[in-house]
Amino acid sequence: MNERTLIIIKPDGMQRRLAGEIIGRFEKKGLKIVAAKFLQIGLELAKKHYAVHKGKDFFDGAVKYISSGPVLVMVLEGEKVIEITRKMMGATFGYNAEPGTIRGDFGTSQTFNLIHGSDSPETAKYEIGLYFKPDEILDYQMPDQKWV
Ligand code: PPS
Repeated sequence: MNERTLIIIKPDGMQRRLAGEIIGRFEKKGLKIVAAKFLQIGLELAKKHYAVHKGKDFFDGAVKYISSGPVLVMVLEGEKVIEITRKMMGATFGYNAEPGTIRGDFGTSQTFNLIHGSDSPETAKYEIGLYFKPDEILDYQMPDQKWV
């Protein structure tokens, strides 16, 4: 059964013109984009996005950061896509993330960590529902699917 994940290229990723680099890594890995949207996340949506972290000391900062500029929100689909994208993103903070990962190669910051990816199928379902209607997620085949 194919899994889905919600990926967000965060405001710093967009401002630093890293969207193409990040999407390119996912494409070259063989992952499939099934939905995408460019928007600035409002405060209310940001609070819903991080609702599970409400009450933690970083909640307000995380809400402010993700709503601070335009972001690219995508749904990626494929077998083990959550595990794969989390590995490709690297550890949460740039200074901890291994070289070769997105955060490890492009950042050092604790606050600005470039990208968000769902951490479980349940979270993915909730997060995808915040940004996309079912008919905005496309069902199609890639010609190289059997090879990757
Ligand atoms: S937790 O508590 O272990 O579930 O938190 P974690 O998964 O590490 O992080 C959840 C999201 O909050 C962001 N975060 C922070 N932002 C700024 N400062 C600090 N100290 C901080 N700690 C956590 C972190 O980037 C996660 O956001 P996403 O969008 O999922 O990357």
